[in-house]
Amino acid sequence: MRILFVGDVVGSPGRNMVDEYLPKLKKTYKPTITIINGENAASGKGITEKIYKGFMDAGAQAVTLGNHSFDKKDIFEFIDRAKSLVRPANYPEGVPGKGYTFVKINQIEVAVVNLMGRTFLPAIDCPFRKIDEILEEIMERTPYIFVDFHAEATSEKQAMGWYLDGRVTAVVGTHTHVQTADERILPDGTAYITDVGMTGPYDGILGVEKEVIIQRFLTSLPARFEVTQGREQLNGVIIDVDPKTGLAKSIQRILINDDHPFFHL
Ligand SMILES: [Fe+2]
Repeated sequence: MRILFVGDVVGSPGRNMVDEYLPKLKKTYKPTITIINGENAASGKGITEKIYKGFMDAGAQAVTLGNHSFDKKDIFEFIDRAKSLVRPANYPEGVPGKGYTFVKINQIEVAVVNLMGRTFLPAIDCPFRKIDEILEEIMERTPYIFVDFHAEATSEKQAMGWYLDGRVTAVVGTHTHVQTADERILPDGTAYITDVGMTGPYDGILGVEKEVIIQRFLTSLPARFEVTQGREQLNGVIIDVDPKTGLAKSIQRILINDDHPFFHL
């Protein structure tokens, strides 16, 4: 049992990389399930139904979101019928959509959970208490539990990794767009990485035009963020799972860009 996860897809450069490399990654690694974080997929903020369907057509079985989940109005219209789309589970009661879903592949059911941190991000319910609440139901149904923890603070992500060690298959961090090199299997069997990194522009600043961000630092004036074009990258992870326990055996980073070309085929 193997999970492929693709980190935050940013705008059209990110979508191009998914279209170009997802078939190659699937051919090389043969994942049982492919999951994509798509919260920045529509011009850097949010997702549309067309893009969600494009990811599914490209070979994903689930799409996770984050703090930009509701930035495109379109989402309110389609989120409740998008079976394999999850937004952070710790949004307050009454928010459209769902925080986890079950994906069935060859008799195996994988729970895909999305949570959002609260440090340096908009106020939201406690992700730690929320995951305790929903795990009860999930664990009755499957031992394969993938958690995308969309958070800003490294410490909050590490805390979630340790909090869930031995209870879920993987806790992978998203949102900060820079891949961290701390991937590991925690002592009780949960795969962990602080941030998977992003899929999109390679020469911008977190995916945005670098000139705009530099000007912002120079002047402190508000600026319009545009997704930068040019060279592209894909960041992800591959997680191997013990079919008997649902715990992780290995986690491997994937980094594809001009400095780290993809050789396998
Ligand atoms: Fe984010």
